[in-house]
Amino acid sequence: MLLKSLVLLLLGYISVLCTENKGHVSVVLLGATGNLAKKYLWQGLFNLYLNEASKGHSFSFHGGGLLPPEKAENLMFDILKLLNCPGDSTPDRCALLKDQFLKLSHYRQMATAENYTSLDREIKNTMIEEGLNEAGRLFYLSVPPFAYTDIARNINATCRPPSGAWLRVVLEKPFGHDYASAKQLASDLKMFFQEEDIYRTDHYLGKQTVEQILPFRRKNRKHLDPIWNRGYVERVEIVLKETDDVKERTSFYEEYGVIRDVIQNHLTEVLTSVAMEIPLNNSQSFDVLRAKLDVLDSLRRPDHNSAVIGQYQSYLTQVREELEKKPNFFTNTQTFAGVLVQIDNMGWEGIPFILTSGKALDERTAYVRVLFKDNTFCLQKEANREPGKTPCKPKQIIFHIGHGELGFPAILVSRGLFKPSFPSNQWEEAKDIPPIHMFGQPLSDFYIYRPVQERDAYSSLIANIYSGKKHMFVTTENLLASWKFWTPLLGIVDEGSPRVYPGGLENGQLLDFLIVDGGLKFAVDDPLEVIGMGQKTNRFASIHSTFLGNSMVSNWAEQLIEKLAQDIQQLAEDSVKRSGVFHLALSGGSSPLALFQRLSKHHYGFPWKHTHLWLVDERCVPIADPESNFGNIETHLLQHVRVPYINIHPMPVNRNQRLCAKEDLGNELYAQEISAFVGNSSFDMVILGLGNDGHTASIFPGAEDGIKGDKPVLFTESPAKTQRMSLSLSLINKARYVAVLVLGRGKHDIITLISRAESNPKKWPIFGVKPIPGKLVWYMDYEALLK
Ligand SMILES: *[C@@H]1O[C@H](CO)[C@@H](O)[C@H](O)[C@H]1NC(C)=O
Ligand SMILES: *[C@@H]1O[C@H](CO)[C@@H](O)[C@H](O)[C@H]1NC(C)=O
Ligand SMILES: *[C@@H]1O[C@H](CO)[C@@H](O)[C@H](O)[C@H]1NC(C)=O
Ligand SMILES: *[C@@H]1O[C@H](CO)[C@@H](O)[C@H](O)[C@H]1NC(C)=O
Repeated sequence: MLLKSLVLLLLGYISVLCTENKGHVSVVLLGATGNLAKKYLWQGLFNLYLNEASKGHSFSFHGGGLLPPEKAENLMFDILKLLNCPGDSTPDRCALLKDQFLKLSHYRQMATAENYTSLDREIKNTMIEEGLNEAGRLFYLSVPPFAYTDIARNINATCRPPSGAWLRVVLEKPFGHDYASAKQLASDLKMFFQEEDIYRTDHYLGKQTVEQILPFRRKNRKHLDPIWNRGYVERVEIVLKETDDVKERTSFYEEYGVIRDVIQNHLTEVLTSVAMEIPLNNSQSFDVLRAKLDVLDSLRRPDHNSAVIGQYQSYLTQVREELEKKPNFFTNTQTFAGVLVQIDNMGWEGIPFILTSGKALDERTAYVRVLFKDNTFCLQKEANREPGKTPCKPKQIIFHIGHGELGFPAILVSRGLFKPSFPSNQWEEAKDIPPIHMFGQPLSDFYIYRPVQERDAYSSLIANIYSGKKHMFVTTENLLASWKFWTPLLGIVDEGSPRVYPGGLENGQLLDFLIVDGGLKFAVDDPLEVIGMGQKTNRFASIHSTFLGNSMVSNWAEQLIEKLAQDIQQLAEDSVKRSGVFHLALSGGSSPLALFQRLSKHHYGFPWKHTHLWLVDERCVPIADPESNFGNIETHLLQHVRVPYINIHPMPVNRNQRLCAKEDLGNELYAQEISAFVGNSSFDMVILGLGNDGHTASIFPGAEDGIKGDKPVLFTESPAKTQRMSLSLSLINKARYVAVLVLGRGKHDIITLISRAESNPKKWPIFGVKPIPGKLVWYMDYEALLK
């Protein structure tokens, strides 16, 4: 305390010597040991101190948190010790600067109302002791939004600066979850603060390139005014691609998704900077904010064609693990979205603004690309053209925000357009350009400008808060206007099924999309997509009747297969709607092959990614054996449809390098797997066949334990002494829907036989199929039925 006062005094003294003391600024950083504070905020505050302390204000920095000092003080000082000095300072100078900053900084517990009262008391006492005036108090809330209201209440109640001094309260996103919650949060805050006290950050507004968009547009008006509109611009792409996924952040991400996380805020701010009218004065906050609001208010209401959405493949597993969800948990949260935004005003009507962002993509980059229409037809080939004259190349302006192949923030202007000027000397023409191409053009096709010095967004934001530049922040009015646009779209996409993508380079063309008829659609079809049952063709109606007291569907084989496939799909969709998942158990043998082929041909509407495939029975042969049921399913079905491999459950007939050894307990293992994945071990659908001896699954006549026994999965032996593994009838009978598929004249005799026989499951196991909660339906073709 003594030392601190000494430094304050000393600083005060120096200030008096240099300039008059303009008063004291107390900075309170709540969440002082959190991630954001650690990565950016303390560095930003240190930079603020370095830039401003000599200009008249004195400072103190209070790091606040919920923990008592003995738990958090060291954490905070560990962060401060790692602060960076400006590039040109010597080690000695740097040590001195950091030492000064450390002495002005301390940790305090800010958990209770009383803690705020005592902070207020201490600031006031210090002012009296040091003979200083208060200039202002800055509260930076780097805390989760649910804590905002309590903190706001405490600040208002006991921690306001005296009259004449300013109060600035800084908030970090998320600012709500949709329009209603944002409005609620805003009205909560309004009880305690004036709009002018509130600084909602969007760190994208502190990115050097983004910050430069408006000044650049103003400075180059002469060239831009005629072409910055619908007459000349082809489209605008606003892109933020990330390679990281959200592992370890799923609890946040599950609630938000990519649109709420970055598109509603960062990319929308960028959009307004590009599309807004240039206000009379870039430094007049009201004018700038008003011009942005005009854009937000002109956005055309989105519809169900406005977006394409995706989810990287391992997201689901990460959510299940991190949030301890059941294996049948599914989520539609988007980790990728491309959105077509239309601005209905004089300047931009009809020009597509494409906003897109995603996790687990092939590269990390962020840029805005304004692509101009191309109406020049060049007869003379490029090589014969005067060097430097490139009117025939694509014309574009790229605001490169960061990363990417270029690796630094930059503004690129096609040489065919104009040579840009910059409003300040903080940007310069880039030298040592890497030999790369951007959007198919060598960099030599562009004028390229970059910041003389790179700096991070938060330092810029903090400097802007300090100097009260409100237009670099998000006002309540603009925030709500943005949510007003995005909330209906969120309603639409949250209902939709995101395209699953593998992540990274493997994404290939899967996420490319097209602008079609005023909407977006993916450029390539995806087998995983659920597009509904729109194009059902049912030229030959099937006959519906009964057989042995159960429903029966009959038709010619091809139409029968078609009908069964449609019924499977209907069941799949109903199950997915009901429980998020569809458990389907398939039999071996020859009859289902045609069904597999049918399913693999017309699979676009099928919810494969929510489908689990199980086996009804399996032969004790290696998987490569032509007799292997799973082998057949793989060849005829799985190679053509994209069922997530974790959803595929072959029977474990091959364990410890041997086939169906009883002591390997493969049957029990499968039973365990079923009970772990399938609710109540009740399959949504089981497809059975019928053998000429009346067997079904691999339960043969006389197999007591398969018919009545309590083992859910068991080893069996065919009359020809081949070994099998099979679901028992008691397990099959738990299913919601059992289909028995009987095809071909070869089955006519057994059908005739059992239609007259007494219902004895021991003799004809098919009689033991009586699903208790569900129904049994025979699918029989005319040949089997009538011969
Ligand atoms: C904060 O408040 C609590 C309860 O009011 C108190 O126990 C604690 O000592 C206070 N912390 C500090 C650093 O004053
Ligand atoms: C804000 O603080 C003032 C002064 O202490 C108090 O009168 C007012 O009720 C507070 N506002 C709210 C909403 O608590
Ligand atoms: C713009 O506004 C700023 C801040 O109010 C003022 O200092 C500046 O002179 C204005 N510039 C022009 C060109 O009006
Ligand atoms: C399991 O069975 C119980 C009792 O019949 C039922 O209430 C429950 O919904 C079933 N669960 C599933 C996942 O089918």
